[in-house]
Amino acid sequence: MTSVNQNISNSVTLVSGSPNVMSSSRRIGALILDKLSERKFETNIIDLSTLNSEALLGRKDDTDVSSALGKVDEARIIVITSPIYRATYTGLLKVFFDLMPQGGLTGKICVPVATGGGNMHQLAVDHGLRPLVASLEGLTVANAIFATSNDLTEDTPSDALRNMLDNVMYELDALI
Ligand SMILES: Cc1cc2nc3c(=O)[nH]c(=O)nc-3n(C[C@H](O)[C@H](O)[C@H](O)COP(=O)(O)O)c2cc1C
Repeated sequence: MTSVNQNISNSVTLVSGSPNVMSSSRRIGALILDKLSERKFETNIIDLSTLNSEALLGRKDDTDVSSALGKVDEARIIVITSPIYRATYTGLLKVFFDLMPQGGLTGKICVPVATGGGNMHQLAVDHGLRPLVASLEGLTVANAIFATSNDLTEDTPSDALRNMLDNVMYELDALI
């Protein structure tokens, strides 16, 4: 088993795998960060689409990509947000997590958040994002979030989404 990073702080890092500036998955993740901020967590957001693509593909070194990996390494909670593309999480997320060493999420609580065009691929959270976290030895919360565009009008969640957010926070409060 890989050893746990002893320098983990009370911080949360959101990793967004959407290329959209107004990403719905990112905005839902940000609602979780708002709630953790109220609990005195330091918050960081990584927009993978703004990082150097050659570095994300592992073809060159880049300080911003190294810094993003560092923000994940330091954090206690990782909120992983992605739109569903082709029935799973985006390639942007895949290449970023491919840069991590084995055991890169050991000791971290991970919250998957995915949005889709409809409900047909909601199991991508279970067959895509959960195994991704497990492969890096992270702990995924039971209450992951899947939503569609109908669940978020501007930044106001639907009743169903609000219920999912409450369940995530209830679980996070128990874990932290
Ligand atoms: C290239 C591409 C592939 C997509 N594939 C799927 C899919 O397989 N299943 C689905 O439900 N939605 C699919 N969508 C729709 C997005 O998942 C949906 O618009 C999502 O809410 C966007 O999230 P975002 O605002 O965080 O980027 C696809 C969209 C794009 C652009």
